[in-house]
Parts: sequence; C-alpha cells; structure tokens
Amino acid sequence: MTASTQVGIVGAGPAGLLLSHLLALRGIDSIVVENRSRAYCEARQRAGLLEAGTTELLRAVGLSDRMDAEGLEHGGIYLQFAGERHHLDFKDLTGGRWVTIWAQTEIVKDLIAARLAAGAQVEFEVSGTEVADLDQDRPLLRYTDAAGTRHEVRCDAIAGCDGFHGICRDSMPPGLVRVAERGYPYSWLGILATVPPSTDELIYSRHENGFALHTMRTPQVSRLYLQVPAYEDIENWPDDRIWAELRHRLEIPGWELKDGPITEKAISPMRSFVASPMRYQRLFLAGDAAHIVPPTGAKGLNLAMADVTVLAEALTSLLRHGDPGPADAYSDASLRRVWRATHFSWWMTSMLHVEPGPDPFGAELQLSQLRYVTSSRAAATTLAENYTGYYPVHWS
Ligand code: FAD
Ligand code: PHB
Repeated sequence: MTASTQVGIVGAGPAGLLLSHLLALRGIDSIVVENRSRAYCEARQRAGLLEAGTTELLRAVGLSDRMDAEGLEHGGIYLQFAGERHHLDFKDLTGGRWVTIWAQTEIVKDLIAARLAAGAQVEFEVSGTEVADLDQDRPLLRYTDAAGTRHEVRCDAIAGCDGFHGICRDSMPPGLVRVAERGYPYSWLGILATVPPSTDELIYSRHENGFALHTMRTPQVSRLYLQVPAYEDIENWPDDRIWAELRHRLEIPGWELKDGPITEKAISPMRSFVASPMRYQRLFLAGDAAHIVPPTGAKGLNLAMADVTVLAEALTSLLRHGDPGPADAYSDASLRRVWRATHFSWWMTSMLHVEPGPDPFGAELQLSQLRYVTSSRAAATTLAENYTGYYPVHWS
C-alpha cells in the first residue's frame, strides 16, 4: 500500500510522540511507526526527572494536566559521601529553578492518548521498518503493519526517533556519521517498590561499595538504584540482598530506609555516545537515536524532548514556509546542548561511582570534588544550573 504524509516518524518513545504532537499544533501531518505494542511502550520503566524547561514545555503544549496534579516538584537534591548528607538548594542557587518527578511512563501514556484522540496515525507492532531514497526530496518510509500488510509512505521529511538500537542512524550514508563514545565499567540495578519514599528530595550517595540513588515516583512508590558491575546478572540480586545493600549505602545515623515489595527490577548498562551530524538531507535524528548519556545527571529524556522541540520548529519553517535555515542549523544547535549534558552526565557519574579495583587516588579526587561542590557556592551553582537545565527550550 502506498501513501504519503508530511513527516514520517520512526519510534513512539517520548521523542517521536512529542514530535508528532508538536507538528500537529503547527498544522503538519505525520505518521508514527513503532515496533513494540502500545502496552509495552506505556509500561517501559525509565526516566523520572524533568528539568524546569521540560515541565514548562509540557504546560505550553497542553500536556500537563496530570503532571500538574500528580507530579512532585523538587527544589534540590541531597549529595551524600563519607557518611555525611548535604542538601543543595537549587531554587536558592539558580534564582528559582526546580525539577519535577514525573515518570516517563506517564508522559508516554498522555502523549499516546492525545495523539489518538486527535485522530493521528500511530502504528504499533510494526516490523521491517526501512527508510530509503534519503537523497531525494521525498524520502520513503516502509514498514509492515501488525496485520502483515507492507506499506510505503512518501514523506517530505523523516524523523529517526527510534532510540539507540533503531535503524535510522545506520541508514545514513556510510562514513557520514562520526561517533564519540565512552563506556563505564558498571551498570545500574533499578527497582520500583511499593513503599513511601524515605526522603523528601533525591539522595545521590557515593559509598565505598558503589553509588546508590533514592528517587521516587509517587508518595506511595519509591524508585531506587544501585551501582553493580557491568554485565551483572539480575539473578545474583534477590530482593533481600538489594534492600540490605541499599541500606548499607544510603543509611546515615538517625535516618532509616523503609523497604517494601519490589514490583520491578532491571539492570541497565551505562554509556556516553554522541553521533554527529544529526541530519542527512531530509532524515533528522532526535533523542536516544543520536545520543545516550549515563542516567546520573537525569538528562536523556530532557534532551530527547528538547531535540524534537527544536526539530518541530525547523520542520515547520521548511515545510510550511520553504525556509531551510532552521533545518540546516538543527544538528549544530542540538549538539551544543547535547555536549553540555554529555559533560555534566559524565562528570556526575565520575564523581559518584566507584571504579572496580583499588584506586585510592581516584577515590580522594572524588571526595575532594564532593566536598568542594557542597561547600563552595560557585561549585554548587554549577551543578544546580546544569541539573535544572542549562539550555531550556521554549515553545511559543
Ligand atoms: P526511546 O524511549 O528509546 O524510544 C525509541 C522508540 O523507538 C522505542 O519505543 C522503540 O521500541 C522504537 N523503535 C526502535 N527501533 C524501531 C524500528 N526499527 N521501527 C520502529 N520503532 C522502533 N532521562 C532523563 O531525562 N531523566 C531521568 O531521570 C532518566 N532516568 C533514566 C533511568 C534509566 C534506568 C534509563 C535506562 C534511562 C533513563 N533516562 C533518563 C533516559 C531516557 O529514558 C531516554 O533518554 C528516553 O527514553 C529517550 O527517548 P527516545 O524517544 O529518544 O527513545
Ligand atoms: C529517576 O527518578 O528514575 C531518576 C532520577 C534521577 C536520576 C536518574 C533517574 O539521576
């Protein structure tokens, strides 16, 4: 079956769905194709922390009703090391900026509901996604739908929002894409637990046994992470061992970690990865398809949503007004923001995680840096302005 649309979007993660929503606000048609089921996309546990600019964006585009009612606004974090817990007050340090705990699952649910209510074409459970004719004015998106019918869609532009393992990045001409990356010799074991958070703000803890993070989803549900060795097997971590290790890395005198039933647990690898350019002719990459950061700085989802905000404006200029300027500037402008977040995420990760094997020099550097960040207003402000979002995006 052959059809045509203005923008073909590969991937119904936060980037692809938000792009489709923003384009619709500008009167531009799109199709979204996704190889997973709707239920899978809505349940995939990932990010939880939004920069101030991301919450403002969701408000500006009519997607904030549930976030405003149920999201948890935070004005700071705790940094913990050497048995001491220090509070960083972001509102004070940044002149009023904040972050919001609002899960990626909920953003994706709201986006899917909004796209379907508007009559948008969102195809779940597709297979055999391909992009072709990328050097022509109207590239081609091909996929097989859930019922087994093969489709070809002529598009004015294609957006590769298909995550790190997608097909769009590798569809660019060989030799064009330059990759800069860094691996880390550890992973994160993340749990969701039905127990009220034991803390009012997130706790980032550097401990000799490794990093731990106490975050949350709702007043009834906690989310916690533990640094574990790279390639660790989840079978090695029965629930009792997870809670014991979390207590060991997070507890300080006078503060106890409450535990409860674990409803979900998974191990995620850590990597930094930036592919550039983020565009070839009429194929544009956005979100995890172009870049990955380790989760310590909570930047991945925020970057994905910032990319598509800029991309939606660029495609509007290109497709409605015939102005290629913003599309030509898209990759360079996005990469500046991406590299700021890449540095911040690498820095937070390096400061808080423990290297395998003895490294007394590295450990002392980390402790010195943590003492500096928690005692110098200038250093604390650097962390606070990056954490709350150094390059906020705007939608008017
Ligand atoms: P994805 O969410 O990966 O979506 C891509 C979509 O494309 C997927 O649905 C996939 O199924 C689909 N797809 C792939 N290939 C194809 C194909 N061939 N055809 C069709 N569809 C395809 N970020 C933050 O900002 N804050 C946080 O607190 C945070 N915490 C995190 C914690 C963890 C444990 C992890 C793993 C990540 C975290 N992140 C965080 C990162 C964040 O979740 C990602 O950056 C975000 O999901 C990126 O969105 P995306 O739409 O670009 O990609
Ligand atoms: C989360 O809530 O899942 C979360 C918060 C902050 C991070 C990473 C993950 O740095």
